[in-house]
Amino acid sequence: MNYQEFYQKSIEQPEVFWQEQANQLDWHTKPKTILSKDQNKYYQWFEDGKLNLSYLCIDKHIHDGFGDQNAIIYDSPVTQKKQHITFYELREEVSKLAGGLQQLGLQKGDTCIIYMPMIPQAIYAMLACVRIGVIHSVVFGGFAPHELAIRIDDCKPKAVITASNGIEIKRIIPYKPFVDEAIEKATHKPENVIVFDRKLGVEIPQKKYDVDYTSLVENALSIEAIPLKATHPSYILYTSGTTGTPKGIIRDTGGYATALKFSMKYVYGVEEGDTYWAASDVGWVVGHSYIVYGPLLHRNTTILFEGKPIKTPDASTFWRVISEHKVKVMFTAPTAIRAIKKEDPEGKLLAKFDMSCLKYQFLAGERCDVATLNWTKEKLNVPVIDHWWQTESGWPMLANMVGVALQPIKAGSASFPVCGYDIHIVNEAGENVAANSEGYVVAKLPLPPGTLQNLWGNPERFQKGYLERFPNYYFSGDGGYKDEDGYVFITGRVDDIINVAGHRLSTAEMEEVVSSHKSVAECAVFGVHCEIKGQKPLGLVILKSGESLEKNNIQQEIIQEVRQEIGAVASFKDVLIVNRLPKTRSGKILRKLLRNIADKNEYKIPSTIDDVTIINEIQAIYKDHRIGIYK
Ligand code: COA
Ligand code: AMP
Repeated sequence: MNYQEFYQKSIEQPEVFWQEQANQLDWHTKPKTILSKDQNKYYQWFEDGKLNLSYLCIDKHIHDGFGDQNAIIYDSPVTQKKQHITFYELREEVSKLAGGLQQLGLQKGDTCIIYMPMIPQAIYAMLACVRIGVIHSVVFGGFAPHELAIRIDDCKPKAVITASNGIEIKRIIPYKPFVDEAIEKATHKPENVIVFDRKLGVEIPQKKYDVDYTSLVENALSIEAIPLKATHPSYILYTSGTTGTPKGIIRDTGGYATALKFSMKYVYGVEEGDTYWAASDVGWVVGHSYIVYGPLLHRNTTILFEGKPIKTPDASTFWRVISEHKVKVMFTAPTAIRAIKKEDPEGKLLAKFDMSCLKYQFLAGERCDVATLNWTKEKLNVPVIDHWWQTESGWPMLANMVGVALQPIKAGSASFPVCGYDIHIVNEAGENVAANSEGYVVAKLPLPPGTLQNLWGNPERFQKGYLERFPNYYFSGDGGYKDEDGYVFITGRVDDIINVAGHRLSTAEMEEVVSSHKSVAECAVFGVHCEIKGQKPLGLVILKSGESLEKNNIQQEIIQEVRQEIGAVASFKDVLIVNRLPKTRSGKILRKLLRNIADKNEYKIPSTIDDVTIINEIQAIYKDHRIGIYK
């Protein structure tokens, strides 16, 4: 197949193209209207079609005779457990949990938060919700109770599904107490908290609203999947924006199923029945699309891995999982590879494993540096594909579409636009820039199926944040350029979002916490280079005059507050006390300048700076504190 022709068809005849792809699914009611507009005058796909994600991910495969195939392989080095779950078993678990949710009064259109570690029950919970049209919102376990409370107040869940605990490298994460704390902080009160006891000896505090997951499922009736409109929201997934409040991305049902099924075949190059592994977390978009829905829709065995690339128990874990479970295509973040490379620079641990099953290694979540890409290619000896996408898109926007035809790989580039995405690089005025010139990365509307529908409860922010800046285009928030051969290079965010170990975080949100410390007069938080995590946050703080606490104590208190309010995942571990911050004459803090000085990048001193002498001052402070060292 020819990529250019296939791609061109998706852009020139989007309705014909996506109707053909939608036909690959088993609809309850096939759509006749392919592309239309909703009440906000935004595009929607397959408006009059009806289907169910849970049916497509489970029951369909059983009807087709694949009930005995493994749907999920749960591999948990942190508990030393492995479990193979067939489609039959998956149906039993999911349909009964759906029955239990219904018994508790959850109905189509209600919302439900899932706050769980990487255990099969997290996937059961997601599939049980979509089975009955309950809109789930999975919250990543690394977020603190305060962040969970913000999400509870925003999506007002009728119930929360959680577990007794999670397990990190050095400690137990008390999920249930975190949920209790979040509910206490939130204004909205969910009716029930469904708790899965992992039976690891962790004490579970009891509350009136608690329901035991295991007894709920044991006593419930199995529920069949109900037909849902293609435009019914399957989930809300919160992601960082440029303000302190996260944005609830709304995903539809029919467009999402179509896009994911398409991407498994044409982007990732997997066939039905293959084993596929995305080493992410169900709390991120990668987890939603490529641990749960994508592989299961495409009848792939998906790996659910509860561990880290290193230290669980060592840097060979990924290779062990690939070879033991015969993974054909694997997806991880460059940061995971950098962590492995640091522990095992020669890749000696690979020699123990037969890796012949692996066909492609995909990387995404952050910019992939050339050294990491080359190391991975050399050690694994398979094509290593950097691809670019976001929570908003839900599936890849730029990739080397190996299922169509593998194109020559250019290190540093996420290759070409994926079918359906008409990607342009534009200047401030919205005009296309010349080859190799940097600009804003935008995609012409309509976006293909599967992409965000709106922001939960905030259509104005959706319009303003994504659609207004460049009319008729979706604005990604990333900068980049296209070279003379059409390869696209993503250079990074053009806003205050940073990417720490592949996790997207808002520095504005961290600034809110830092500035609320009683001793802080003013602050700036921004991302600096980190050799393992790509970026990490650094806070510069001006103290209120007459502060008596030791500087060191204040720094530790601020770090603790960010950990407590946002979560450990923010990796906020560096605070420097400064006397002043570089600003423009109108009083705006020059964050980009601060970042460039810290990263030792070349920089121009903005002509608007109010006092140029501060630059030497900042340089001296950075030197004293060894910025950029991974801790
Ligand atoms: N629940 C609770 N806490 C969590 C968590 C979870 N699900 N995930 C991470 N955390 C905590 C960690 O314990 C750590 O806490 P600490 O400061 O007490 O050590 C903190 O959040 C930062 O975690 P992490 O980003 O995982 O860093 P790390 O230093 O523990 O490990 C890597 C470094 C590189 C091994 C790790 O970041 C990694 O595996 N990266 C790949 C992540 C990935 O796949 N991202 C792509 C998402 S699409
Ligand atoms: P998230 O929404 O958490 O998936 O984060 C999306 C952001 O991560 C994007 O807007 C990019 O800034 C960054 N990103 C993801 N994949 C890549 C990639 N392959 N190359 C460069 N940046 C990436």
